[in-house]
Amino acid sequence: MSGSKVYLDYNSTTPLAPEVFSTITEALQRCWANPSSSHEEGVLARQCIEKARGHVAAMIGAKDSDIIFTSGCTESNNAVLRSCVRHHQHLSKEEGTTMLPHIVTSNLEHGSVLRTAQELADNGEIELTVIKANPRCGHVLVDDVIGAIKQNTVLVSIMHANNETGVIQPVKEISLQMARLIKEQKYTDLFLHTDTAQTCGKIPVNVSELGVDFISIAGHKFYGPRIGALYIRDLESKTVPFYPMIIGVGQERGYRSGTEDTGYIAGMGKAAELVCNNLDTYHKQLKEIRDYLEQQLTEHFGDDVHFNARFDGVERIPNTSNVSLIGKNLEGWNVLKNLKHSMASTGSACHSKTAKASQTLLCSGVPEDIARNAMRLSLGRNTTKEDVHIFIADLRETVKALKLVN
Ligand SMILES: Cc1ncc(COP(=O)(O)O)c(C=O)c1O
Repeated sequence: MSGSKVYLDYNSTTPLAPEVFSTITEALQRCWANPSSSHEEGVLARQCIEKARGHVAAMIGAKDSDIIFTSGCTESNNAVLRSCVRHHQHLSKEEGTTMLPHIVTSNLEHGSVLRTAQELADNGEIELTVIKANPRCGHVLVDDVIGAIKQNTVLVSIMHANNETGVIQPVKEISLQMARLIKEQKYTDLFLHTDTAQTCGKIPVNVSELGVDFISIAGHKFYGPRIGALYIRDLESKTVPFYPMIIGVGQERGYRSGTEDTGYIAGMGKAAELVCNNLDTYHKQLKEIRDYLEQQLTEHFGDDVHFNARFDGVERIPNTSNVSLIGKNLEGWNVLKNLKHSMASTGSACHSKTAKASQTLLCSGVPEDIARNAMRLSLGRNTTKEDVHIFIADLRETVKALKLVN
């Protein structure tokens, strides 16, 4: 419950965990000085940031020095794409070639990847290939991604799990195939990026297992504050080149300038520490309550409920259920607007006010009339069976009333 209503929109944002809230307030009180100052107050603030960096690194099995803090996952995604373009431009200059850098991504990506890539393409800065998700499984196929790679490809950017459907993308398999390609074809400047905004805190995210070069992280999706982080493999040894997007006086070792938000960084560190200590429990609880919700939906709505992202043998993050109720007047936005005791979004929170069918669902093979009725139900750590009962009763009342409207 959130206030008096059941909140089922945790993929949009999560509240701060109580421990995170205390850590932020304490850091704001104790570590308020500029972390770049060399006096003892500054050193205290610096230590606070480095401690947080250690927790974020541990959450994804990375080295501390491979993490930089950003303003959010949107910035992290932008930074990766733009850095790879800059790197290619540098190489082209050195080698005297004129070929544009090529980026491969998918039609399921968040706008901070897809629109950035599109803008770079529209400006004539890159050649872009957008891989279509396979409508039979709701994710990209490894062969489609690998098949799109060419001599001038600098970056493959495929999200870890989709924010609307929760479907997990085959990032690990793509990385294995890319490693083979790099070895056989001797590609030296081809990198793999994944956006983990929807997976950190829900399923294991591990840099070695995923085998990626860049990872974008969003604090506010795992009960942390609204900042982000970016993992860059072996940053210090410059194995993976990184060209900063924000230039200034060199905070974050010059990779991301701007005086650090010590309080929020400390909070993100605490949120990451909670994930490190409790991921198995979070995963188990989320899956149990999501499965219960789906079972209750089936029990109460029978054939009138359509699960938009349940593909045979395809893994989903444990907290997300994308469903449509079939019938007149039951468009997702209309049902959600009329709920009295619960809150959710039709899809990505940024697009929740539109009556149009979600592109992500259409790309995932959901027919348009069903996609228009979609609701994304995303559960949190504290969602209970009682919340599910309240939501189901609310939904039943709303559907009954809407069906009577001409
Ligand atoms: C998959 C994905 N990537 C990126 C973002 C953007 O993250 P932020 O809000 O931290 O900029 C979101 C948030 O909705 C998301 O779901």
